Amino acid sequence: MTAVKTAIIVGSTRPSRLGRGVAEWVLGLTTDRPGASYDLVDLAEVGLPLLDEPLPSLLGQYANPHTIEWARTVAPYDGFVFVTPEYNHSTSPALLNALDYIYAEWNNKAAAFVSYGSSEGVRAVEHLRSVATEVQLAHVREQIKLSLYTDFVGYVTLAPAEEKVQSAPLLFDQLESWARALRGVREELAGQ
Ligand SMILES: Cc1cc2nc3c(=O)[nH]c(=O)nc-3n(C[C@H](O)[C@H](O)[C@H](O)COP(=O)(O)O)c2cc1C
Repeated sequence: MTAVKTAIIVGSTRPSRLGRGVAEWVLGLTTDRPGASYDLVDLAEVGLPLLDEPLPSLLGQYANPHTIEWARTVAPYDGFVFVTPEYNHSTSPALLNALDYIYAEWNNKAAAFVSYGSSEGVRAVEHLRSVATEVQLAHVREQIKLSLYTDFVGYVTLAPAEEKVQSAPLLFDQLESWARALRGVREELAGQ
């Protein structure tokens, strides 16, 4: 069986962000996952402008080269780990923008969330779960929640508590099994 293809998406883009380091830590936890491959996709490198498509993404008629390129980046993946900060009780505008840009490329795939913030990013993920539902991403229950107070030294250097590290395998198990199962759903729909 081919390994499920998974992207760890860095959801923050500002200078001095913590998000890139959190995503690299998540990537480091995936080295012994033989059933899946994990890549880092950094929205700061993708560099999407604020949504400038003339038509809603649901229609699948992407006009701009950066949208077509983003759709090509996302399309091959079976699953996603969204690494999100909490900004004003929600996710980052960059991540929401990246989700809004395209539609079919998210459909019938699996998602998991790793969040961080003063309140572990829990409200960011509650918002993201609504968005994920709308773009037909199946989001797993397990979540890694990192506190700026207890999982970072001096609010800057990532030093996760042991239980956070230990929750990772279950998150990957849930994500990979749904990502694998949803391949079948996409194949069935493509054959109709
Ligand atoms: C604009 C802004 C709003 C924030 N709002 C919240 C918030 O509502 N709740 C929270 O727990 N942390 C909040 N924070 C703290 C961030 O979660 C923390 O700074 C985190 O490092 C941001 O992620 P980043 O460094 O990857 O950009 C906020 C930070 C910023 C920049």
